[in-house]
Amino acid sequence: MNFLYFVVFLCLCSFSIGAKDNTYNGFVQCLIANKIPNSEIQKLVFTPTSKSFTPVLQSYIRNRRFNLSTTPKPNIIITPLQEFHVQAVVICSKKLGMQLKIRSGGHDYEGLSYVTKNGPFSLLDMSNLRAIDVSIPDETAWVQSGALLGELYYRIWEKSKVHAYPGGVCSLVGVGGHIAGAGYGNLLRKYGLTIDNLIDAKIVDVQGRLLDRKAMGEDLFWAIRGGGGASFGVIVSYRIQLVRVPPVVTTFQVEKTVAQNATDLLFRWQSIAPKIDPNLFIRVLVQPNSETDAATKVTQKSVKVSFIAEYLGTADSLETLMDKEFPQLGLKKQDCRESSWIDSVLFWDNFDNKTKPEILLDRQHNTYNYLKRKSDYIQTPIPVEGLTSLFKKMSELQKVGLVFNQLGGKMDEIASTATAFPHRAGNIFMIQYSMNWDEDGAEIANIGLTKQLFELMTPYVSKNPRQAFLNYRDVDIGINDHSPTTSYKQGKVYGLKLYNTNFDRLVKIKTAVDPENLFRNDQSIPTAPKGP
Ligand SMILES: Cc1cc2nc3c(=O)[nH]c(=O)nc-3n(C[C@H](O)[C@H](O)[C@H](O)COP(=O)(O)OP(=O)(O)OC[C@H]3O[C@@H](n4cnc5c(N)ncnc54)[C@H](O)[C@@H]3O)c2cc1C
Ligand SMILES: *[C@@H]1O[C@H](CO)[C@@H](O)[C@H](O)[C@H]1NC(C)=O
Ligand SMILES: *[C@@H]1O[C@H](CO)[C@@H](O)[C@H](O)[C@H]1NC(C)=O
Ligand SMILES: *[C@@H]1O[C@H](CO)[C@@H](O)[C@H](O)[C@H]1NC(C)=O
Repeated sequence: MNFLYFVVFLCLCSFSIGAKDNTYNGFVQCLIANKIPNSEIQKLVFTPTSKSFTPVLQSYIRNRRFNLSTTPKPNIIITPLQEFHVQAVVICSKKLGMQLKIRSGGHDYEGLSYVTKNGPFSLLDMSNLRAIDVSIPDETAWVQSGALLGELYYRIWEKSKVHAYPGGVCSLVGVGGHIAGAGYGNLLRKYGLTIDNLIDAKIVDVQGRLLDRKAMGEDLFWAIRGGGGASFGVIVSYRIQLVRVPPVVTTFQVEKTVAQNATDLLFRWQSIAPKIDPNLFIRVLVQPNSETDAATKVTQKSVKVSFIAEYLGTADSLETLMDKEFPQLGLKKQDCRESSWIDSVLFWDNFDNKTKPEILLDRQHNTYNYLKRKSDYIQTPIPVEGLTSLFKKMSELQKVGLVFNQLGGKMDEIASTATAFPHRAGNIFMIQYSMNWDEDGAEIANIGLTKQLFELMTPYVSKNPRQAFLNYRDVDIGINDHSPTTSYKQGKVYGLKLYNTNFDRLVKIKTAVDPENLFRNDQSIPTAPKGP
């Protein structure tokens, strides 16, 4: 009896002087109890005192804003090597009441996959689970969450030159966050979003069960198509539908200055683009620039407008199409480049035309600046006066860029309630506000400039709610501290912007699958308010 008391006393004592170690020990014991051999633990669990902690943490930080000494750090990092490890991690996090962040490719623009100011947290890093299994006979693939888009595209191309997947254009973006967040890329007008080409998924739920589509049920499978994964569980893998592309595709990039009619061209693009042939995607970049007047030689701050396109066909047929539908752009054959689909992937990811597809297997080929993004949906063309005042402001600021992403085509054919992603027919394009910088300490000022431009756009964008795209994470639209009394109210603020009329159904599903809100981040879907 006495001996037992003594042991209990010691445990309590060590808890109060070293809460962190105790969490670690309790967690490790729980993992061992859940069949992860002791000998493997050190390969997948890291504490701040271990040598690998910082490199493991930093290898998928993709935004310098969250790579600072002041950035809150996890107290444990776990990097599962097998799917059942994920199950054990969830069971033990729940048991210990550990807040868990889930990270795949780490491209969340606000770092919500590996940072929170909201109390201590642990990091589940999925980067070791990255198998890709492509099956051309049935035109599908299983891909684990830790794989990157470039690796997926490469593995598809390796087996077929006429198949693709309609995901994003940056090769280092992680499959894990991208697909469930309704990722889009230059094939969206023909084939829709990542979630429109998703057949099945495996998710570890709050009870640690590994569920496929059949086992999770259609409600949860609906929710993770656009509602993100992080509110519901850990997505371990996706089964995707491959899409068909021709052996030759055509790309172009045409730049126009304001003196070359950029304003008029962008105005016209707004009504032509949403209705044009779905084999064609034209993105428009508006970037700060300076222009020298040919006559007076006076240089003025300005903007330049670039039209960048992917066309599923030959340069000849693209030229014919453009002559008919958008002759004002004056596209010439020599502006066009014919290539395989995989070479067009490299073009969109800013590689030069000598780069070989193997670069897509390099997981660290890029460096990252400080980044801030915001998004908007546009439902009616911005009038010429609006574009003029926008260009004027952007010329003054000389820092923030805009990306106009064409919608229409397949996007209009899918009901806004078919998946959790609501921004379908009625939206003609989406704007990304894009602010990159490399000087330290400029965060408040530069985010301020981005907000100024966002304010200026208010008259021209969607209203009630002003809609936003989940994958362009922006904490300015609202955040959640998950306190029991305010969580739902806070969640509704950003929830309506991200999910519009799908928000209520997402809350119901969240409440059913994770009533205690283990799976949460600063912008996750709240559970339903408690009470009568
Ligand atoms: C350089 C760059 C280019 C981009 N280009 C595009 C583009 O072309 N098209 C586009 O649509 N988007 C684009 N994005 C946005 C990108 O799609 C999102 O940031 C996406 O969420 C990133 O996924 P990830 O796995 O890399 O991110 P992470 O930061 O790892 O995760 C993002 C979110 O998903 C959650 N999550 C991650 N993995 C899992 C999992 N396995 N289970 C459950 N939840 C999970 C995280 O907790 C977090 O909430 C780009 C972002 C960057 C930084
Ligand atoms: C984070 O900092 C480390 C050095 O401390 C550096 O090697 C790495 O490239 C940085 N990553 C980002 C995204 O800033
Ligand atoms: C600009 O547009 C106007 C009318 O649309 C046209 O007359 C003019 O030639 C164009 N200028 C250039 C440089 O394309
Ligand atoms: C590759 O790019 C270079 C430089 O931009 C260009 O001169 C060349 O014509 C391009 N080659 C092909 C095959 O597109």
